[in-house]
Amino acid sequence: MKTAICYYSRHHGNTLKVLEAMAGEGKVDLIDVTARQAVRLEAYDCVGFASGIYGFEFQKAVVEFARQYLPQGKPVFFVYTYGGAKGTGPKAVAEIARERSCPVLGEYSCKGYDTFGPFKLVGGIAKGHPDQRDLDNARKFYREIQTHHSLE
Ligand SMILES: Cc1cc2nc3c(=O)[nH]c(=O)nc-3n(C[C@H](O)[C@H](O)[C@H](O)COP(=O)(O)O)c2cc1C
Repeated sequence: MKTAICYYSRHHGNTLKVLEAMAGEGKVDLIDVTARQAVRLEAYDCVGFASGIYGFEFQKAVVEFARQYLPQGKPVFFVYTYGGAKGTGPKAVAEIARERSCPVLGEYSCKGYDTFGPFKLVGGIAKGHPDQRDLDNARKFYREIQTHHSLE
């Protein structure tokens, strides 16, 4: 199974750490949505969309990327990290997937070290995350997606 994960990860690279753990489990291309490139998501068996949570939602660039490139009917999944309040999480990108009749295979989220705004004064929250357990759970999540795919 060939997978693309289109992501935005800036604050501490927390989301990218999770994605790199997943990528170790199979054939996964990690696509930074802010890099200028021509992408053909048609070439993949499934597509993940991933982001840190900023202002209670996915970064807009990920949502716009999905709007621009997500092919009709492509199986998708969502991954995100957050400091403590995930808000609407992947809702906006899930809405695009729904409009394009893309089956949703699942979502994985975990805490990610957060030093935004006032949290900086207290040394940040969700310190040490993603930790080993978060990464192990991420690998497990991706393996389950692969199993699901191979059974179809
Ligand atoms: C500008 C900004 C806004 C954030 N807003 C939220 C938020 O609304 N809820 C939350 O739980 N965490 C919030 N966080 C914390 C991040 O979601 C968390 O640190 C995440 O792991 C960052 O992922 P990244 O390192 O991959 O960018 C925010 C962080 C930043 C920098």
